[in-house]
Amino acid sequence: MNLLHALEQPFRYKSLHLKNRFVMSPMTRYSAPMGIPTDDVAAYYRRRAEGGVGLIITEGLGIDRTASRAISTVPNFYGEEPLGAWKRILDGVQLAGATMAPQFWHVGGVPDFNFPDEPPAALESPSGLIGPNVAGGRLMTEEDVADVISSYCRAAADARRLGFNAAEIHAAHGYLVDQFFWSETNRRNGRYGGATLRERARFGADIYRAMRSAVGDDFVLMMRISQWKTGFYNVRMASTPSELEGWLEPLVDAGVDIFDCSQRRFWEPEFEGSDLNFAGWVKKLTGQPTITVGSVGLDRDLFADVEQGGESHPHLASLRELSRRYERGDFDLVAMGRVLLADPEWLNKVRTDRCDELIPYSSKVLETLF
Ligand SMILES: Cc1cc2nc3c(=O)[nH]c(=O)nc-3n(C[C@H](O)[C@H](O)[C@H](O)COP(=O)(O)O)c2cc1C
Repeated sequence: MNLLHALEQPFRYKSLHLKNRFVMSPMTRYSAPMGIPTDDVAAYYRRRAEGGVGLIITEGLGIDRTASRAISTVPNFYGEEPLGAWKRILDGVQLAGATMAPQFWHVGGVPDFNFPDEPPAALESPSGLIGPNVAGGRLMTEEDVADVISSYCRAAADARRLGFNAAEIHAAHGYLVDQFFWSETNRRNGRYGGATLRERARFGADIYRAMRSAVGDDFVLMMRISQWKTGFYNVRMASTPSELEGWLEPLVDAGVDIFDCSQRRFWEPEFEGSDLNFAGWVKKLTGQPTITVGSVGLDRDLFADVEQGGESHPHLASLRELSRRYERGDFDLVAMGRVLLADPEWLNKVRTDRCDELIPYSSKVLETLF
């Protein structure tokens, strides 16, 4: 029996047409020397497309702004060679029956914790902070902010020109856009600061307004958001539905189509008094489609993996819970991360009742791109 049968329905939103509700979550692989993804990267994504997901969101990609990347093997999404490579990767994924959306990533002031010995990159951030009294990045001027917005716009326009139907900004996990959202990292006065989440959402909103006018109405603009931040896993910026609404409303008005709601464990309720998860609340409050994510099919979350090492094992009961929430209408799409790193055939195995063949996840799978 296919435990995920309910999610086999097609999804259509504007020009984005998916054959099912399964998404590969964005995952950085540091496999692009000088920012140019190799043929191995193309084969890696194509293999996941053959594995049956409807949509692949790429790993975080640098935009045309030097400070957007902390590490030079993170792929770029600007310049002739990287864009040519992404076009070929998209073609391969489409031939295998899936589609793909690039994820645009500006790290803000956050150095890469995977490479503690790398010389520090020249980074930038809203207030020179990456956590409560934790310094990181040079304080951005208004001109820097305007330039970054233009870089996102060029990236979105290039995505459309290359034939993608959707693109996502990484506005989660404590990186640049999230640094503007969070009061601890945004101490600015003026247009991009403010005492409320609604005010601090203005930078994100201005990016989407500008991108929308660059790509037109039919192109799908997604935004990844989270309460938690890298290194500050228990932070909750919105502690009530009303604060969450204040955060999201200006973003929807500015043109966000789909919210990719990053959570560590998808079954956890976001607020007291309801079992709705983060994606469930975002959908309820905005009426926009949402993606849920977080430990789908696994018995441990990402940070338990990092902190404890060892293996995370298949957890099939959570798949029944996932289907139950989907059928109730809590969210539209489901993203999977580590299960697809460990096993490109994960979905096909679940579909065909071969769960005893699922491969456990451990950080060892990151050592090669297969
Ligand atoms: C190796 C690795 C790299 C990741 N890189 C990114 C990234 O570039 N952008 C992003 O938004 N999330 C990134 N994430 C988070 C995943 O997209 C996902 O939200 C997280 O792993 C939880 O899903 P899972 O429990 O199914 O693995 C990464 C996760 C892993 C394991």
